[in-house]
Amino acid sequence: MGNSNLLQDAFGRKHDYLRISITEHCNLRCTYCMPEEGIKLTPKPHLMTADEIVSIARTFVNLGVNKIRLTGGEPLVRKDAKEIILRLGELGVNLTITTNGILVPNFIETFKQAGIKTINISIDSLVKDKFNAITRRGYFETVQKSIDLLLKKKFNVKLNVVLIKSFNNNEINDFISLTKNKKVQVRFIEFMPFSGNQWDQSKLVSYAEIMETVQSEYAISEIQRLEDAPNDTAKNFKIASHMGSFAVISSVTNPFCSTCNRIRLTADGKLKNCLFSNSETSLLETLRAGESILPLIHQNLISKMAVRAGMDDDLKFQNPELFSQNRSMIAIGG
Ligand code: 5AD
Ligand code: SF4
Repeated sequence: MGNSNLLQDAFGRKHDYLRISITEHCNLRCTYCMPEEGIKLTPKPHLMTADEIVSIARTFVNLGVNKIRLTGGEPLVRKDAKEIILRLGELGVNLTITTNGILVPNFIETFKQAGIKTINISIDSLVKDKFNAITRRGYFETVQKSIDLLLKKKFNVKLNVVLIKSFNNNEINDFISLTKNKKVQVRFIEFMPFSGNQWDQSKLVSYAEIMETVQSEYAISEIQRLEDAPNDTAKNFKIASHMGSFAVISSVTNPFCSTCNRIRLTADGKLKNCLFSNSETSLLETLRAGESILPLIHQNLISKMAVRAGMDDDLKFQNPELFSQNRSMIAIGG
């Protein structure tokens, strides 16, 4: 098979978007991401070095990847994060990052130099005590300042809000109010089940409920449906008079698997063809043995399942025996 088809799966989906987790460490402890007791961290020698990250990324770029997102854990806590960002910036792809925002002020110049234009920040509450409760730390103001700094420095800012029933579903319209005078895109994300995150159906705030809440505050004529980018996981909207916009990512009630173009590389160098997949292919071991990783990439892609790693109906998706075999989110990177 020619290399140009290597990133195509059995369903004809082409994968041109690589998400790389560069660390399992984080300076927050978000309840839905990290189990209370923490996770067993991978010993450092088993993690990709900066050279290895760049080498694997380059292989993917040569195969057709044109977008790379850095995730974690929290990517900016890695000691050589600056070096990694700058070197990936040279690959000529659309480079982006998902961060909790705490360390952003130290990275503005690096982001600019690497050509990063859009930054995703995780922020689940606009109420200080609630934000600090869900993150189990005290960085509310720090994150607020980082968001304003990024806007001032002319980055596109997306705010990731994981909605959890009885926790922050009463803030949906507060987040939308934020878009009135700030040019941010608020992204409401349906709470997804991962190992150790105490997910259950009753905590889910569905796409339908989110839109009902918005409609309780704004007239239908004010709520504009925007065009979604190709392969977009979000359904995009805007309140007509607002500067910013909002979107809903409905992985649970409305999976968007048929247009999936994403593959993931974990910090320990394993390829995951789906966020929900527990079958992983170690590229790092083979790279270190000095052998080609191309056959492994092909094998991994060709085994990608049609929908959510085989959890194609609600019953399977809600079955802890199935989703608990996967990693915790902290070790996947979102
Ligand atoms: N459900 C949905 N989104 C999640 N994230 C982390 N855990 C979950 C979950 N259980 C998202 C957060 C963060 C990104 C890295 O992943 O919004 O911004
Ligand atoms: Fe850290 Fe992000 Fe997980 Fe929160 S969601 S603990 S900020 S990696």
